[in-house]
Amino acid sequence: MARNQIDRLNEVGRIVSSFNYIFDLSLLLEKILTSARVLTKCEAGTIYLLRGRKLIFAHSQNDYLDRMIDDPTELPYFNRNLEVDRRTLAGYVALEREILTINDTSSIDPMAPYQHFTGFDNESSYVCQAIMTLPLATAGNEPLGVLQLINPLGDDGLLTCFSDEDEQILSFYAGFAALAMEKSMTMSSAVIHNVEIVSSHDPLETRAHAMRVAALSTAIYERWSEKRAISEEERTHSMNLLPLAAMLHDVGKIYVPKSVLTKPARLDQKERTLMENHVLAGARMYADPFTPLDEITLKVILDHHERWDGQGYPGWVDLNTGHPLAGRAGEDGRIVGKKGQEISIFGRIVAVADVYDALSGRRYYKEAFDQALALQIMEQESGHHFDPEVVEAFLGVKSILNKIKNQYPDPPLEANSPLKTVKPTPSEI
Ligand code: SIN
Ligand code: SIN
Ligand code: FE
Ligand code: FE
Repeated sequence: MARNQIDRLNEVGRIVSSFNYIFDLSLLLEKILTSARVLTKCEAGTIYLLRGRKLIFAHSQNDYLDRMIDDPTELPYFNRNLEVDRRTLAGYVALEREILTINDTSSIDPMAPYQHFTGFDNESSYVCQAIMTLPLATAGNEPLGVLQLINPLGDDGLLTCFSDEDEQILSFYAGFAALAMEKSMTMSSAVIHNVEIVSSHDPLETRAHAMRVAALSTAIYERWSEKRAISEEERTHSMNLLPLAAMLHDVGKIYVPKSVLTKPARLDQKERTLMENHVLAGARMYADPFTPLDEITLKVILDHHERWDGQGYPGWVDLNTGHPLAGRAGEDGRIVGKKGQEISIFGRIVAVADVYDALSGRRYYKEAFDQALALQIMEQESGHHFDPEVVEAFLGVKSILNKIKNQYPDPPLEANSPLKTVKPTPSEI
């Protein structure tokens, strides 16, 4: 094997090992496409996901158009889908499950089953001349999607051709990329199914609520970590795992009686204890963490109701018995709340995201607060309920709150829902 080829294979190895633990599919697709373009020095590329009879544009990059257009939503391929049929290159590859390399789209044999679909080129006036299209599939399975690499550039920056070696290296790469995608999709779907089980028991703990808390927590962590001496490695690791861990913050609610979860009034002391038990019940599910995701999930579950001022729950307890943790009990032998930085950063962040989402959404005891009021309450709780630095990071990302809300809307209210539909006054909080 030529030296250059071995170097390229080593590079593929390094890249694909960095795909481990990227459970966030859109982050993973971005990495898969970026690295594939680095390996082939391509100017543009697209990843489609196969959903039923459609190929969905999941991720696109185009260095040339990026220089021309400010707003990526103006790109012609944004939010477009293709039917899966043999007449397009991507459709052909999805159905035939084989790599297809075309170095000059203007001279495709007119008798070939596929043709280059020029619709997007015409709209954007960008010409896709050389296109390599690869199935993203794991052995023996339906493809998960299709990877398309467009216009390789030579060292002189001018358009060149794909080589046979490019084809070999990229089909090797695409196999590993598909494995990483499958792992990511498997993990997310397992987590989402858990959320749905909880949601069938607690109508407020919806999939949409879990997704919003995940998106907001991740944005807060990103902002918070930017200003701190946290290694790039640790940061990436946490950014990858936090979304799924955050979705699981309330899995323990499956152990809380439905009558308590849906009570349209204040809880009495006994009900409160049953409600608060969701933290220990959930934490016990992760008490023997055996993956990095389990470790973060345990921290999120255990610490999301602690308060910065030490007044939260469950505090320093033994997970199994629920009794005060040895050596951590108060002078009177009672349980002491964790406070300040004793609470894991993931717990401090999810607390902010979860409470904000509860305030800005509908509850059994209240209608949704408008955003200004919800933000005001969050600010007031800085240094009391919440870590001031986390509140600062939260306020720093408040421009994405509406986007998150629109992206994951609550399902419509059922006609007989007990959820409050009248506007509360601030004194009812
Ligand atoms: C929740 O976790 O959603 C509710 C917890 C509580 O009421 O303390
Ligand atoms: C929720 O998770 O739905 C409510 C959280 C809270 O009120 O603290
Ligand atoms: Fe909770
Ligand atoms: Fe929640």
